[in-house]
Amino acid sequence: MSLFFPLTLPCGAVIPNRIAKAAMEENMADDDHAPSAELLRLYQAWAEGEAGLIVTGNVMVDARAMTGPGGVVLEDDRHLDRFRAWAEAARSRGAQAWMQINHPGRQMPAGLDQETLAPSAIALDLGALSKQFAVPREMTEADIAEVERRFVTTAILAERAGFTGVQIRTVRRQLRGAGDDGRGARWAQPRT
Ligand SMILES: Cc1cc2nc3c(=O)[nH]c(=O)nc-3n(C[C@H](O)[C@H](O)[C@H](O)COP(=O)(O)O)c2cc1C
Repeated sequence: MSLFFPLTLPCGAVIPNRIAKAAMEENMADDDHAPSAELLRLYQAWAEGEAGLIVTGNVMVDARAMTGPGGVVLEDDRHLDRFRAWAEAARSRGAQAWMQINHPGRQMPAGLDQETLAPSAIALDLGALSKQFAVPREMTEADIAEVERRFVTTAILAERAGFTGVQIRTVRRQLRGAGDDGRGARWAQPRT
């Protein structure tokens, strides 16, 4: 087996080789939280490295729930042309381009002045960094349903923009199993 053999996924998608670029949040959005010209240039450069799979840095499903000031948000089709250009750049040398989509739950930096929401009202414990994060408000069932709907909306828009897949980021310390009371873990159980 060589690094340069294609990999066929169970869904039929083919990744042309075994080299993947992992998700790394760029914080390079423009003032509208859409992909900037610099971000497109970066992905063009990554595409030219000919990785088989390019996963974007996390793209937020809700502009009210950000992890940084220059985060990309995809919650409606206002800037879909810029997302199309992003997908085009990432795919320009044959890579699969997957958009990583995220809601950061209780890992929203307090300095961004957003209401912090998480399944449990238990603050993030990140050692010396903990003071950067507020105690979250416990999400209602309606909040949870809204976040679920937002993941679906963003995934549909990513597909419309030309991304060939999405990676759903539900980090355990953020949303899934977020508190010691297990509410987030219960929410993360598969449901019919
Ligand atoms: C600057 C930076 C930004 C990152 N942003 C994300 C991100 O948006 N989503 C994610 O799932 N992981 C993110 N990560 C984690 C990386 O994708 C990767 O999992 C991590 O660096 C461990 O991989 P390594 O052992 O090869 O370094 C980030 C890492 C770095 C260094």
